[in-house]
Amino acid sequence: MQANSRVVSSNQHSVHPRLAEVVGRHLRTTHRAEISAHNIQAYERLSFEIKARPRPLVLDSFCGTGHSTAALAERHPGHLIVGIDKSARRLAKHPHSLRGNYLLLRADCEDIWTLLAGDGLRPDYHYMLYPNPWPKAAHLQRRIHGHPSFPLLLTLGGTIELRSNWKIYAEEFGCAMHLAGHRGRIVRLANKGPDLTLFEQKYRCSGHALWSYTVNVKP
Ligand SMILES: C[S@@+](CC[C@H](N)C(=O)[O-])C[C@H]1O[C@@H](n2cnc3c(N)ncnc32)[C@H](O)[C@@H]1O
Repeated sequence: MQANSRVVSSNQHSVHPRLAEVVGRHLRTTHRAEISAHNIQAYERLSFEIKARPRPLVLDSFCGTGHSTAALAERHPGHLIVGIDKSARRLAKHPHSLRGNYLLLRADCEDIWTLLAGDGLRPDYHYMLYPNPWPKAAHLQRRIHGHPSFPLLLTLGGTIELRSNWKIYAEEFGCAMHLAGHRGRIVRLANKGPDLTLFEQKYRCSGHALWSYTVNVKP
């Protein structure tokens, strides 16, 4: 494992000054976006699996290669774990797309969240592990909490865990949850594993501080 990952560098040195305004606007509106055909197809696989073997759900959004999805399947043996990532290249590194109690979908998370919410399906746990940080201040709206789809996370609810190697990202996510009326907590993860994801492994090997924000959201 290479230990040369660079720490996040940004022109933003604390929580974004426009966070409350952006999150507030999104909380007052309903996210509507056309759902792509390939996301509908991916969702059909998930629907089929839920109907064939009904189980409570765990989401592993932005799962990358699905390394964490397989680990979470062991942690939650009575659940169906759904790993979602838009990168076919990353997912192709995983030897199976459906195995035991987990399923990997190549899809955009926002569309799968919309379809789940529309069908009234709610995960018990929702992991978002090391999403792209989008560290430029101008990119606030590309971060999960600055995106118009953020309210969908509240509709889906569950125990949400977000991890990042950029403390400001975890703090902003926590502030956005707070603005939405949900209080969670941030902890610094231990410097030694076990590593839940490959990015986590890379960041730990490179000596980065890692942050976890958890919150319980009742939909
Ligand atoms: C930094 S990687 C982290 C991957 C994995 N969670 C890990 O820790 O190893 C971020 C992942 O998010 C995926 N991604 C980014 N935006 C996405 C979206 N809107 N929907 C689905 N996946 C997305 C990327 O393809 C990438 O695999």
